[in-house]
Amino acid sequence: MSAAGTTAASVPLLEARDISASYGHVQALKPTSLHIAEGELVTILGPNGAGKTTLMRALTRLTASMGSVFFRGEDISGLPTHKLARRGIVMVQEGRGLFPQMSVRENLIIGAYLHAAEAEAQMGTVFELFPRLRERIDQIAGSLSGGEQQMLAIGRALMAKPQLLMLDEPSLGLAPRVAFEILSTLSELNRRGIGILLVEQKAPLALKLARRVYVISLGKIVAELKTDEIKSYHDLARYYLH
Ligand SMILES: Nc1ncnc2c1ncn2[C@@H]1O[C@H](COP(=O)(O)OP(=O)(O)OP(=O)(O)O)[C@@H](O)[C@H]1O
Ligand SMILES: [Mg+2]
Repeated sequence: MSAAGTTAASVPLLEARDISASYGHVQALKPTSLHIAEGELVTILGPNGAGKTTLMRALTRLTASMGSVFFRGEDISGLPTHKLARRGIVMVQEGRGLFPQMSVRENLIIGAYLHAAEAEAQMGTVFELFPRLRERIDQIAGSLSGGEQQMLAIGRALMAKPQLLMLDEPSLGLAPRVAFEILSTLSELNRRGIGILLVEQKAPLALKLARRVYVISLGKIVAELKTDEIKSYHDLARYYLH
């Protein structure tokens, strides 16, 4: 025990205190607090327009935000996105943000800009997780299927060797089987020790993956639930009704 009464193990991987964000005069994210424990996979559920993307962008400073964010106990509030990446906080954005005219390999190499010397080894890890990317290594990203593009977006994020991976609806627009495949890979990454914060609108998938879920509605977290305490989806439905 330290003087503050906490052990190293109890320091969260990420903790946000009263983080908020506005677009002009509209506060899309009201002061919100959350945490992700070391080695945890947490999902954020909520209806369209609830503020899920804004929350992820506020945490990674892609959107200007107020409030405090701590990474392993260290105050990282106000650090720009690229400095967060150096600490191991990496986000896979909604829409994937790939370079469509570049090959699979080139997109991956760009992701390794922080660890260029280890790019080949890291690419091996990505191909082990997503063998389909190895088969398509010279194909341009824009001609990949939606599922393959999502695999590439996650693969590119992995090239930055994240400690905390944030993903904004990686299953969006994908067939159920492909979505399941991708989300299963996130479970595997989490088993390997990477903390994961996942925005996922498909409640059955979100509940299957995570042991803890935050529900966000109208710009604020309205519930924090342990998934093993959720008996039916009706328990969640009330949070979706404004
Ligand atoms: N760049 C922007 N300028 C103005 N308003 C915005 C901007 N981006 C988002 N908003 C608004 O902020 C609110 C939250 O949007 P956000 O994209 O965070 O929701 P979301 O939960 O991710 O929704 P979805 O499930 O549709 O992805 C919405 O009302 C949206 O219209
Ligand atoms: Mg969104």
